[in-house]
Amino acid sequence: EPKASSSIGYTLYYGTFVHTPTLEELEICFNTLVGVTSDGEIDYIHKNYKPEEHDYMTAVHRNRNRHFDFIDYSQDPTKFFVPGFIDTHIHASQFPNVGIGLDCPLLDWLNDYTFPLENQFTDSNEKKLQFAKNVYSKVINKTLTSGTTCASYFTTIDPQTTNLFAELLLEHGQRGFVGKVCMDHNDTYHDYEESFEDCVHSMNSIINHLDKLNPSDDTLVKPIITPRFAPVCSRKMLNWLGKLSKTHSLPIQTHISENTKEIELVRDMFPDCEDYATVYDKHNLLSSSTILAHAIHLTKKERKMISKKECSISHCPTSNTFISSGEAPVKQYLYQDKINVSLGTDVSGGFDSSILAVIKHSILVSHHLAMKTGRQGDKLSIIDALYMATQGGAKAIGMPDVLGSFEVGKKFDVQLIDLSSKDSIVDTFEWQLPLEEEANQRKKSKQMQDLLGKWIFSGDDRNCVKVWCNGRLVVNKMHYQRDDRWV
Ligand code: GUN
Ligand code: FE
Repeated sequence: EPKASSSIGYTLYYGTFVHTPTLEELEICFNTLVGVTSDGEIDYIHKNYKPEEHDYMTAVHRNRNRHFDFIDYSQDPTKFFVPGFIDTHIHASQFPNVGIGLDCPLLDWLNDYTFPLENQFTDSNEKKLQFAKNVYSKVINKTLTSGTTCASYFTTIDPQTTNLFAELLLEHGQRGFVGKVCMDHNDTYHDYEESFEDCVHSMNSIINHLDKLNPSDDTLVKPIITPRFAPVCSRKMLNWLGKLSKTHSLPIQTHISENTKEIELVRDMFPDCEDYATVYDKHNLLSSSTILAHAIHLTKKERKMISKKECSISHCPTSNTFISSGEAPVKQYLYQDKINVSLGTDVSGGFDSSILAVIKHSILVSHHLAMKTGRQGDKLSIIDALYMATQGGAKAIGMPDVLGSFEVGKKFDVQLIDLSSKDSIVDTFEWQLPLEEEANQRKKSKQMQDLLGKWIFSGDDRNCVKVWCNGRLVVNKMHYQRDDRWV
């Protein structure tokens, strides 16, 4: 019997599952049955399950002696399950600036567009709470409906609206890391900075607040320590944040080597440090739970250090193109330096809040890099990009065994892709009939890879028709269609 207290019971999903469990590995599982507990955990995966060969429904029913839901998309080749996207770098507060600021490089962009916007979150109480609620609800809604089940967010320096943001994440059902921006000296825009003491107080209040916020049986929102970037942080603050990360076992996120002028600025401000990465390392901010955004112009030495410290890089090709910061040599990071790389929208340096768009841009940017360097090896594949968007992201946020792929014991954070959804602009003419059963596995897989190309290069959020987070259905655009079967 279903538990009366629980909104979800045991659920079986049946259909095509596509994922990248490891770098370079694309696995396409047809006719696959995935069982998900009421806690949202995958506890059963059976690949190539043929209904005519097994009376699976009664078998599972008898074995577990409980009610379950059965959701079947196995008959339509243009529908498939993929792991929810993990956006490892996004500024929730900058959503109103999407599309704005094409004309300037990073440091001017920050002064002219970004700091003035973020400063609105420090307005009088009533004003800022209303503003924050509006902006933050929009950004969560937009990312979630684009398939992002987990994101590592920057908010602003303001603690109250940062706490409000965490509450909104829980309300919408998106998993998230909440980073109050820490910055205690802003030389170029004095209106937007905090004192070291205010930062300490704010961080402690947020850590306490989020501790109490999560449901008793799970952690869905977590604080993440967020020194904005070296140029706006005192050494005292960097040191304290490094210690805070250790004492509370909290992850860290920041920016590094995004822009050449920024790198010069860091060199001038920290003459005792050999390079940008050393600034963070000296203050104990580089560890396996550190996400470094951008990382475009790293030296060999820095790459070595980042690899050794097992930090992750969040690659933000949309932003790096929009504010013309450069092309990160991601393929080399992944395959030569053995650095974990994930993807970030970097809203609003990035103008698209969808990781699907960032997948597309990561590949295009890598092709431009390859044309410039003459190295074919600089080109990213669809598999590389899908990996960075899912399992690479899970690694970056310290949850490689919890999220990122379909595996027993992992959480069911998943999106259902429908290439023939109501408003889809993807041409699926050749694929409207179920793939022939007698077609061999290789032919089927090849067709499916073509469909993945269609999805990534001509699809968008209209093809993301359902999203589950922690096993809970949090987005459903299929109300118009009754094709689920319920037991
Ligand atoms: N470096 C410091 N702050 C920022 C920011 O808000 N966006 C980007 N893209 N880079 C930064
Ligand atoms: Fe950023």
